Amino acid sequence: MPLEIVRDPRELRLRVEDARRDGRRIALVPTMGYLHDGHVALLAEGRRRADLLVLSIFVNPTQFGPNEDLARYPRDLDGDLAHARAAGVDLVFVPEVAAMYPDGYQTYISVRGLEQGLCGASRPGHFAGVASVVAKLFHLAQPHVAVFGEKDYQQLAVLRRMVRDLDFHIELVGVPIVRELDGLARSSRNAYLSTSERVDALSLVRALGRAEALVRGGECDTGRLAAAAREVLAGAASARVDYVELRDAETLETVARIERPTVLALAVFVGKTRLIDNRVLTTTSI
Ligand code: PAF
Repeated sequence: MPLEIVRDPRELRLRVEDARRDGRRIALVPTMGYLHDGHVALLAEGRRRADLLVLSIFVNPTQFGPNEDLARYPRDLDGDLAHARAAGVDLVFVPEVAAMYPDGYQTYISVRGLEQGLCGASRPGHFAGVASVVAKLFHLAQPHVAVFGEKDYQQLAVLRRMVRDLDFHIELVGVPIVRELDGLARSSRNAYLSTSERVDALSLVRALGRAEALVRGGECDTGRLAAAAREVLAGAASARVDYVELRDAETLETVARIERPTVLALAVFVGKTRLIDNRVLTTTSI
């Protein structure tokens, strides 16, 4: 089947309504494009779970702050379409900004607790932008299942809560972080890194590894684990910590000790590029 490219939201609705009428199971993989192996893993998961695999590519302006990288966010539609074909995508939805946000648009979804702190603290309004566009994509694509990466840990938690709170009848699937051979988490923003920043960017995965090793050695105090992670990050000249936090892996509440699965979440500016990474830590007794 040739890859179908749809730009008009109404046309997408018609296509998925047809598919649903035919009893086909729909998977949606929402992305902002510039696809890499992390996205390919999401598409593979979607392909496994559905008859109609829909990929959306939309650099969503409402999730970028005024001083963020919306204007220079990397784009490569031809490359994305090649990845989509190779991954067996059936339909790519590539809407214009005006089609998603018509004149006078003013509706936003706020997941009030989970959007606070972590990335929400340094990116005010970010998660309202994410939740709103994803809700809109859900309405348009009417998927049975939607696939997201676990690298954006807080995003997945926010979206899970939105789906639960607003009774979306959609299964959300999280896919583990895909890494480069040397451990750097795949991200479209890695394209911004200079050669020396690319080296410094490895401090994130090293910080996670250091904390994990300490937990394996019996350390449960989250203050000491955060300090150890910060120490690793401080060794990278171009790295500046935005946050290093340990939170309950499910509720994202702060925790003093690792007694349940706990996510160590990092956001670090390497030069001007803000990178995130995370790892769920568990003691052997959990
Ligand atoms: O994770 C992303 O790429 C974006 O936040 C998403 C989920 C596609 C919403 O714009």
